[in-house]
Amino acid sequence: MASVSPWLAKRLENMKYKRILLKLSGEALMGNKGFGIDQERLMEYAKEIKAVHAAGCQIAIVIGGGNIFRGIQAEKGGMDRVHGDYMGMLATVINSMAIQSALEGLGVETRLQSAIKMEQICEPFIRRKAVRHLEKNRVVIFGAGTGNPYFTTDTAAALRAIEIEANVILKGTRVDGIYTADPEKDKNATKFATIKFEEVYDKGLEVMDMTAFTLCKENKLPIIVFDMNKKNNLSNLVKGDKVGTLVEV
Ligand code: GTP
Repeated sequence: MASVSPWLAKRLENMKYKRILLKLSGEALMGNKGFGIDQERLMEYAKEIKAVHAAGCQIAIVIGGGNIFRGIQAEKGGMDRVHGDYMGMLATVINSMAIQSALEGLGVETRLQSAIKMEQICEPFIRRKAVRHLEKNRVVIFGAGTGNPYFTTDTAAALRAIEIEANVILKGTRVDGIYTADPEKDKNATKFATIKFEEVYDKGLEVMDMTAFTLCKENKLPIIVFDMNKKNNLSNLVKGDKVGTLVEV
C-alpha cells in the first residue's frame, strides 16, 4: 500500500485492517419498509462508515440491489434471466448513489465507479484509479456488480476486494456471524468465532454463494460476517476486536 500521506500512515498503524471491502445487502437498506430505501437506516450506515473513515481506514463498498429488484425472482415470474440480472445491476447503482449521497452529506469524500458505463452518473470501473482514490482517502463505491449476468453482488465484492488488495471482506448482515444452524430457526445454534474455509464447505454452511466464497478462498482473502445494524460494530471490528465470525484459510 504505497503513496499514502505520512498523516494517514500514522493513523493506519493502530488499525488491524487498513483497507476493507464492505459488502452490504440491498435489503438491509430497506430497514422496516417493504421496498426501497429507508433514509434513517441509510444515515445510520453512513455514520458507521464515516467513523471508520475518520480513523484512517481505506474503505471500498459494494452494495446489493434486492431492495429494488431481484433478477432471480423476476426469472420465476417469466422474465429472461439475463435481462433480470441487468435490471438488478442497475438497482445496485441506485443504492450506490444513495450511499454516496449520504456519505457526502456527512462530509466524506467519495467516488462511485460502475461496472457498466454510465458516464453522466459516475466513473467507469478502473482498478488503478480506484486504488488511487483509496490512497487519497476517498471512499470508493463499486456499482453494477461485476457488470455481467449470472453473478451475485457477493461475487462482485470478492472480485473487487481481490483487485484492490483489500485486507479483508466484511459482510454486513442482520445476524452477528456464522452459526452451526440458522439461529432464527434453531435455538441451540451456536456461533463460530473463527472458522476455516474448508470447514464451511464440509459443514455445508452458507456464507456467500459458492463463486464468491471460492474466489475468497483461492486468493486467501479473509471474510468477516458481522451484524451491521449494531452500533460501533464496524469500527470495533476494523480496530481488531472480535466481532462476528472470521473465515480464514
Ligand atoms: P484525481 O484528480 O486523480 O485525484 O481524482 P479525481 O477523481 O478528483 O479526478 P477526476 O478529474 O477524474 O474527477 C473529478 C470528478 O469527476 C470526480 O467527482 C469524479 O468522480 C468525476 N468523474 C470522473 N470521471 C467521470 C466519469 O466518467 N463520469 C462521471 N459522471 N463523473 C466522473
